Amino acid sequence: MAQSNTKIVCVTGGSGFIGSWLVRLLLDRGYTVNATVKDLKDEKETKHLEALEGAESRLRLFQIDLLDYDSIVSAVAGVTGVFHVASPCTVDKVHDPENELLAPAIKGTINVLTAAKELGVKRVVVTSSVSAIVPSPSWPSDVPKSEDCWTDEEFCKQKELWYPLSKTLAEKAAWDFSKEKGLDIVVVNPGTVMGPILPPTINASMQMIRLLIQGCTDEYENFFMGPVHVKDVALAHILVYENTSATGRHMCVESICHYGDFAAKVAELYPKYNIPRLPKDTQPGLMRSNKGGKKLMDLGLQFIPMEQIIRDSVETLKAKGYLS
Ligand SMILES: NC(=O)c1ccc[n+]([C@@H]2O[C@H](COP(=O)([O-])OP(=O)(O)OC[C@H]3O[C@@H](n4cnc5c(N)ncnc54)[C@H](OP(=O)(O)O)[C@@H]3O)[C@@H](O)[C@H]2O)c1
Repeated sequence: MAQSNTKIVCVTGGSGFIGSWLVRLLLDRGYTVNATVKDLKDEKETKHLEALEGAESRLRLFQIDLLDYDSIVSAVAGVTGVFHVASPCTVDKVHDPENELLAPAIKGTINVLTAAKELGVKRVVVTSSVSAIVPSPSWPSDVPKSEDCWTDEEFCKQKELWYPLSKTLAEKAAWDFSKEKGLDIVVVNPGTVMGPILPPTINASMQMIRLLIQGCTDEYENFFMGPVHVKDVALAHILVYENTSATGRHMCVESICHYGDFAAKVAELYPKYNIPRLPKDTQPGLMRSNKGGKKLMDLGLQFIPMEQIIRDSVETLKAKGYLS
């Protein structure tokens, strides 16, 4: 019997930290998944996906470059839904912001949405970030930041904060495309994502907690807004995809808090590590709240608490040899 295509979806960036968890949960739920990687010949991008349960019969891998429209078409052909996760993700200084961050984020998003529209995809979930919400220095400090808040583009340009700028412009481009072309999209805005690592490599957010444990005193002033477990991020994508009543942006954080709160919790749980003491308020003007993820909670998501996020992160870093 021919398989119904309602459960065939595409995940761009399937090889990455969040993408692999999303592919895993989709396979667990019986979906057939077209996952994209940058290089099919690189086992570091493929092996952990091929090892997932259900992969043998329901996972297909495609090689794409976000800047090459034609490469995206075959991954999107025949699917009902697309999860557009792929985008370069770094909080480090970059030498060539246009080519390293802005073009793949913005043009890449337009290429994926164009392919989705051309090929009759029903719904696209776009992975944005809290980096499209902060830094937003003009937001009143007595009001918790919410989906109504947008990153200040001029502030990013002045401070050379290219990653938040890339996520903000990419998300805005996605909303403009959706309105102009009539494509159904929904957005997830994760905070700093941590938890068990499936790929053999370490991504930017897991590097943050690794560095903290190794004594780094960076306060991520313009990047941090709260942590979230990687499994919850993957689940949030599926929830907003399956609930067609879910609309707009969805902030995906266990809580809105300061990096200093997070670092203090790591120090409390792991006194044997020499965790630096950071100031209490590392994110000026950020009002704490445990309702940041309310839209997702209303869809049934119960966020994994910070303590568990930290424990799972430390255990995976130890298991993979990133921490002793
Ligand atoms: N980690 C976080 O804390 C966090 C928070 C909020 C939002 N996000 C967003 O979540 C998404 C995934 O992040 P992640 O943490 O999972 O990072 P990651 O592990 O670095 O994954 C990024 C993925 O994008 C792919 N990619 C990057 N540039 C590409 C290009 N030019 N063409 C094709 N594929 C490309 C990467 O492929 P390769 O593996 O082949 O390089 C990888 O699969 C990104 O959109 C990021 O902005 C992350």
